[in-house]
Amino acid sequence: MNKKLIFGLILCILTIGLVACTEQNEVIDNQDNPVEEQVQENVEVVDNGEEQAVENNENEAEVVEKNNNEEINVENSEKKILIAFFSRADENYSVGTVDVGNTEIMAGFIKDYLGDKADTFKIDPVVAYPKDYKECTEYATKELNENARPEYKNADSLDMSKYDTVILGYPIWWGDVPMIINTFLEKYDFSGKTIYLFNTHEGSGNSGTYTSIKNKMTSANVDTNGLAIRGAEARKESSRNTVENWLKGLGL
Ligand SMILES: Cc1cc2nc3c(=O)[nH]c(=O)nc-3n(C[C@H](O)[C@H](O)[C@H](O)COP(=O)(O)O)c2cc1C
Repeated sequence: MNKKLIFGLILCILTIGLVACTEQNEVIDNQDNPVEEQVQENVEVVDNGEEQAVENNENEAEVVEKNNNEEINVENSEKKILIAFFSRADENYSVGTVDVGNTEIMAGFIKDYLGDKADTFKIDPVVAYPKDYKECTEYATKELNENARPEYKNADSLDMSKYDTVILGYPIWWGDVPMIINTFLEKYDFSGKTIYLFNTHEGSGNSGTYTSIKNKMTSANVDTNGLAIRGAEARKESSRNTVENWLKGLGL
């Protein structure tokens, strides 16, 4: 009887031990799972991080590309310089009869120096001025007295919005700008544009025209440090240097 009791007790102890062991294993198993899950989660975190990094790199690349394009666009949108001038060929004071006018020769020196940075527009009258010098002076007197605004060719095809700098040239006529220059200055919107002036003459210098143009063109920035050269002098190759030094001085 005692033996049976002892055997029963031993059996009981073994059974309890076995159950305890099984439960412990289950705890270990359960502990394994969260670690695995954690690792899995970490992998996912790492993966997301990489994906994020790749995505960020792509975004950065996009930004760089966008910035580059913007720079290119800014470069493309950079405005040109317009060289606009009026000049009369044929018979003239001191130079005889010429095929190309004095002011046009100066405009050519300017264009040669600025190259692709500048476009040239010749203010070419619809009604040509008389070829004879004396007749021309009389015609010009009439225009002056009538405060005329002579028309010129291709006026409407000139897109002034393309330019933020205009270099305007003309001869002195009767101590003033030829009236066709007033037509030009009144035809376009020069607001905010910089206007540089050059002219030829036979003794009058700029005859106060730089100041009168500045006073007339109040919405533009008119630079009165213009360049005035005698007509006969303007035709000489040595004037190229004078023109270039003037442009350098303006920072163009
Ligand atoms: C109608 C007319 C009026 C002129 N009036 C003056 C003048 O008042 N002062 C002056 O110094 N030269 C005067 N000149 C001379 C011109 O300014 C000079 O010859 C100029 O270089 C001509 O330039 P162009 O060949 O580009 O037309 C006049 C010339 C003409 C045709």
